Amino acid sequence: MTTLSGLVIRQQEPRNLEFPFERLDSYLTPVESFYIRSHFHAPGLQSDSYRLSVGGAVKNPLVLTYDELKSLPAKTVVATLECAGNSRVFLVPQKPGAQWELGAVGTAEWTGVPLAMLLDRAGLTDKACDVVLEGADRGQPAEPPKPPDPISYSRSVPLDKALEDVLIAYGMNGVDLPHDHGFPVRAIVPGHYGMASVKWLTQVLVLEEQFQGYWQTSDYAYWDEVDGIPVRRPLSEIKLKSEIARPATLEVVPKGQLYRVYGAAWGGTADIVSVELTTDGGLTWAATDFLDPIRPHAWRRWSYDWKTPDQPGRYTLMSRAKNAAGASQPDKFDERYFSYVVHHTLPIEVIVQ
Ligand code: MTE
Repeated sequence: MTTLSGLVIRQQEPRNLEFPFERLDSYLTPVESFYIRSHFHAPGLQSDSYRLSVGGAVKNPLVLTYDELKSLPAKTVVATLECAGNSRVFLVPQKPGAQWELGAVGTAEWTGVPLAMLLDRAGLTDKACDVVLEGADRGQPAEPPKPPDPISYSRSVPLDKALEDVLIAYGMNGVDLPHDHGFPVRAIVPGHYGMASVKWLTQVLVLEEQFQGYWQTSDYAYWDEVDGIPVRRPLSEIKLKSEIARPATLEVVPKGQLYRVYGAAWGGTADIVSVELTTDGGLTWAATDFLDPIRPHAWRRWSYDWKTPDQPGRYTLMSRAKNAAGASQPDKFDERYFSYVVHHTLPIEVIVQ
């Protein structure tokens, strides 16, 4: 079992633990400090009795053991996972749900089998369009409308995404998936909020219609519009965001000296090309330097050498990412997301003295 290190408890059981983002100092987040977000008690799956079934709208349903999965050609990808509720604590007024600060996000190297390979072996029917990923954990969701009986954690990905780059993963940063991160097998949906990357994955179910499960429509969904009529849609791609790791909120920073501001940026559907920083509450912005190359679906850390003011006082820092498509991080929260997708520029107040 992995020893967890330095995580902040947001909920003891089911386990919901946050990475203290001010400790960010590596590109890959070590497994022992990767945030954990679980809705139900973690199931105790064993690798020797593990089975993954692939069924529904397929011609040859499959059942694979753990060893069979591991014997298939493997792929390793780096992907940043961010919980859709990350940074909720910044919302005013406060919204229900775990009060995540900046650390329900992490980057890891995931190893496994492309879902496309399994779907190819199973043979899709002509009308297949959605792929449900079901976990072995079950329970009663916390938020209404509550279904009458316990449900599993299950989420779908559109077929084109499933065929593009979804990974059926058994490795994380070169070791077996830790228990809390979905041992023995989980899905990784690169570029989508963490809720899509189903842990303790035991079933892949192909549908010929759009899945309408609880975690798709009730939770992890937002209000969109069709011709002025509000409609519920599932959350999907991670939005463009940057965060400041150091200084931390209300950190005391020495006046009149160089201080290395440090953070990371990720998300969006185009390459991140710049991160700017303001140290005067948004009056002026300066370019920061990237520490990591562009890699699809992975964060880029950045830093900036700030000559701190000679004048003691409270100063507000904010970072703002921009991407190659010309998009910029917004300066306000979008209320259509209610308590999710907090990706606007986040104010970090520090004390210079
Ligand atoms: N999969 C299952 N089976 N059960 C869960 O509760 N939580 C989801 C997703 N997959 C969840 C799950 C959410 S909301 C997130 S953000 C990620 O797992 C978190 O993955 P991690 O705990 O490995 O960081």
